[in-house]
Amino acid sequence: MPIRPARRITDTSPKNFGMFAKALGMEADLIHLELGMPAEDTPQHIKDATIAALQAGHVHYSDLQGLPELRSAIADQLRRKNALDLTAEEVIITNGLTQASFAAFMAFLDAGDECLLLAPFYPQHVGKAELAGAKVRIAPLDASDRFSINRTLIEPHITAETRAIALINPCNPTGRVYSGRELQILAEIAQDHDLLVFSDEVYQDITYDGAPHTSIASLPGMKERTITMGAFTKSHAMDGWRLGYIAADARLIGPCLKMTSSEVTHVNTFVQHGALAALTGDPAILSGMIDRDRARRDLVVARLNQMPGVHCAPVEGTIYAFPDITATGMTSQECADRLLYETGVVVEAGSFYGAAGEGHLRVCFGCAELPVLEEAMMRMQRFFNSV
Ligand SMILES: Cc1ncc(COP(=O)(O)O)c(C=O)c1O
Repeated sequence: MPIRPARRITDTSPKNFGMFAKALGMEADLIHLELGMPAEDTPQHIKDATIAALQAGHVHYSDLQGLPELRSAIADQLRRKNALDLTAEEVIITNGLTQASFAAFMAFLDAGDECLLLAPFYPQHVGKAELAGAKVRIAPLDASDRFSINRTLIEPHITAETRAIALINPCNPTGRVYSGRELQILAEIAQDHDLLVFSDEVYQDITYDGAPHTSIASLPGMKERTITMGAFTKSHAMDGWRLGYIAADARLIGPCLKMTSSEVTHVNTFVQHGALAALTGDPAILSGMIDRDRARRDLVVARLNQMPGVHCAPVEGTIYAFPDITATGMTSQECADRLLYETGVVVEAGSFYGAAGEGHLRVCFGCAELPVLEEAMMRMQRFFNSV
């Protein structure tokens, strides 16, 4: 038999790195606003706790599900902040949200199943559902209604094969924090059609102007059909640490543990001590980081709205602005390409997130300090003045 990659590799969509790949290797003076990589350094007390754990010899195999004290701290936080009644036994520590969602998709989607994504969607979810053998169906939300959750836009895409809906709340790329009412609509759809919800809440701590984050699992009847996932990645500037978690009812967590423990056994023991410090440390450190993200957001949204042909809706959460550029007459890809080649500012085309994102750009403001954002906005202003 010839050696060949498995069909799950050859027959699934290729991985696409969008504008990041286009900008790679360019010699120009680029400003990178295309990746969701936090600008800040990881807070010192988290590093200190990790170094102390290493020095104390926490270098061996540990609990498959994750350190019990870290799982307890996460369960406590979920109870306090998310109104989720889960125990430490219902939490698995993962390598970032990426591993959490891969495990969840693999554990609950079979070949022939369909997984529904709300669009604009997060492209990684397409790859994961396909690797699990499932078919992706897209429910495009309406830009003119601020990409709100709307039953009439979602329900027609549900078939007898649909097993799950993937939700991102707060939403990358739109910057929406879904209201309780919107989540209630999605909960009713999930219950009426007996669907599981994969709830990616990686941005749950990054909300602005009092927009309250609600976990869909906290709504009546949803705990038993929701896999909630979080991570330290964005809020604590720990993207390189690869630390996240899955939290779900005991009946849902067992299948996920079979995946994570087969895949990586467990997450590095000593970094989990860093995560514990992130949760138990001074909350002012986290709120300071979010205040600085708010200042970045304020600058970028205000400046985008001064550019001709650009309209940027309020950003309720996340580290992304998602301005509408349809009035310029350019497609989002054309606009992102021209910004790259003519100004050196790298932003993502809205179409990268599905056809529903066409006419928009995704501008990450959380990945650069204010003076860099200032310079990027100046270059973009000159560009839009001239088109
Ligand atoms: C919606 C969403 N989910 C998951 C991730 C990946 O998170 P992690 O780095 O924790 O794997 C990202 C990163 O940009 C994201 O935007």
